[in-house]
Amino acid sequence: MYEQISHSLLNEILIALKPEIKYQNLQHFYTRLGANFYAIYSLFTTLYGDRPDFRKQIQRLVETMARQYIRRPQHLRKTDLAREKNHNWFLSQQWVGMALYCDGFAGDLQGMQSKLHYLQDLGINLVHIMPMMDCPEGKSDGGYAVRDFRKIDSRFGTLDDLDNLAANLKKRGMLLTLDVVVNHTSDQHEWAQKARAGDQAFQDYYFTFDDRQVPDMYEESMPEVFPETAPGNFTWDEAMGKWVMTVFNSFQWDLNYRNPAVFIEMLDIVLFWANRGTDILRLDAVAFLWKKMGGTCQNEREAHLILQLMKDCCQVTAPGVLFIAEAIVAPTEIIKYFGEDAINAKECEIAYNATFMALLWEAVATRNATLLNRGIHSIPEKLERATWLNYVRCHDDIGWGFSDADIVAAGYQPQAHRKFLVDYFTGNFPGSRATGLAFGKNEKTGDARISGALASLAGLEGALAENSPESIDAAIKTILLLHSMILSFGGIPLLYYGDAIGTLNDDSYLNDEHKSNDNRWIHRPHLDWNKADRRTQPGTTEHAIFSALKKLISLRKEIPAFADRINRELLDVDNPHFFVFSRFDQSNSSPRILVIGNFDSEPQPLGLDALRRKGFFQYESVRDLCTGETLPTTGNELMIPALSFYWLQT
Ligand code: GLC
Ligand code: GLC
Repeated sequence: MYEQISHSLLNEILIALKPEIKYQNLQHFYTRLGANFYAIYSLFTTLYGDRPDFRKQIQRLVETMARQYIRRPQHLRKTDLAREKNHNWFLSQQWVGMALYCDGFAGDLQGMQSKLHYLQDLGINLVHIMPMMDCPEGKSDGGYAVRDFRKIDSRFGTLDDLDNLAANLKKRGMLLTLDVVVNHTSDQHEWAQKARAGDQAFQDYYFTFDDRQVPDMYEESMPEVFPETAPGNFTWDEAMGKWVMTVFNSFQWDLNYRNPAVFIEMLDIVLFWANRGTDILRLDAVAFLWKKMGGTCQNEREAHLILQLMKDCCQVTAPGVLFIAEAIVAPTEIIKYFGEDAINAKECEIAYNATFMALLWEAVATRNATLLNRGIHSIPEKLERATWLNYVRCHDDIGWGFSDADIVAAGYQPQAHRKFLVDYFTGNFPGSRATGLAFGKNEKTGDARISGALASLAGLEGALAENSPESIDAAIKTILLLHSMILSFGGIPLLYYGDAIGTLNDDSYLNDEHKSNDNRWIHRPHLDWNKADRRTQPGTTEHAIFSALKKLISLRKEIPAFADRINRELLDVDNPHFFVFSRFDQSNSSPRILVIGNFDSEPQPLGLDALRRKGFFQYESVRDLCTGETLPTTGNELMIPALSFYWLQT
């Protein structure tokens, strides 16, 4: 948009650019800056317009973008241009991701090189390597307490190792995803050290207070993320003689985005990682980016403005790079991280579908899809040019993040139902073979979340201990059923390392004093490569899971209707054990696919009449793409086996 004030300001900024910037070839940079500047200017004014140093800060902002553009390697600039042309590239069903810890998966970055074939064997072409930036040993929160944002932790390797890996991935057609921990730094970060030494400019990078007055006011309405291990949201720093806001662990200091200097520093870091060849940046804990007294300090409007500004700036320098929002919040809030009031995504193109994940586990526990159906109905439609990251497990705990209203509508009492879920997954409910652990128990609210490996939560560990073939079979079926859902739902499926071979809980973290009080480590294993090798031996659980997933992944890639357009219809059926939806190709050039999941441990009849009225089952038989079987559909019902799924071509 052309707007006089912002345009004349842009002219002034460009004239004042330092010679080392001005005399570069910035053609594409200038076009993009011109196109985005009005938006950047408006957001920056809303957030920081009242400050006397506004003019100086916006000059620095533009210089930061320009400097990083100058550093952007030629091959990445080429990718940018290609992706601008084909801007829906990431909605394709071709992408299948895996999240992994570099050390847990392969020892270090060099080790990763020799394991890429394993990922490719499974069909993975998007790798999210969990955070690897320099962290203090022990106080690292698994990489989320960063001491130096521009250095790889020596335990993993060096920046050169990462560059080599990125180049190797590129040659294989695989995407690289890395984290930028935007909400906080380690208390050992240089900025925190300077703040501690009394430097006011750096104390302003954080939220620091002389006494408890303001912290106490904030505490009136702020929930706790880690109530057991890090109660409260503020920590007294002896050396600084002040309280500092620490929403997560006491050693993670929250950054203060009311200060434009913080925004510009973090943008510079985002662009630094974009220039390292990262295709997708996972922005951690984005719901927490803006703190406002009187509220929960989550999902504030300004947090969205910060992300929009980050996106607009990144589009100028590195438009080929996508953002993932990690916002594990209520369904109606998650969707806003694509960009509020927009048609096309204008914050993060990708967001974790935490609601779907939690609902899937709920359906496993109840063997019933009533809440799953309701809960999915409650997620607003995603935007164009936005997509979900669908996952079953990740490195964090599982929270029961669906709405109370939906729980009530499904016929349960919210508190009792959430308690049932914790009991079920910790194996404290009759008939449950799940072996998870309660995480983040909050005595005040009665809440708890769940840790545990996927296979253990699905009952495989319990079944193996009982040596019961039927229970082992049921656990494997559950694992495949869950994956069949994330592979077909619409969005990028993100598997978690170890799950494709049925990795169980790993309690070795208990021997490490820095980890033993955080049971999320039970599902962050060192991959057992002997176990992984069994994936090729028929008769083993590893083979059963791996070979089935491998097949589903390659099938997914062949089905155009699985690309993530606005192309899913949820279908009501008369049997509560089923989750049924159809996927279609918007151009209608390829067949519709009907996805059916039976969450019960018994076979269940699916009534066909209602679906016939929707145009399905018009012929005498139907083909299941997963098994290749042809199913007769002349009757009124189709029997669906226990814990099974179909991808029917209709
Ligand atoms: C993110 C990470 C989580 C971490 C938290 C604090 O949510 O996923 O593992 O504890 O941020 O950085
Ligand atoms: C909470 C936060 C999420 C974080 C998790 C860590 O769920 O919302 O961001 O990853 O805690 O366990």
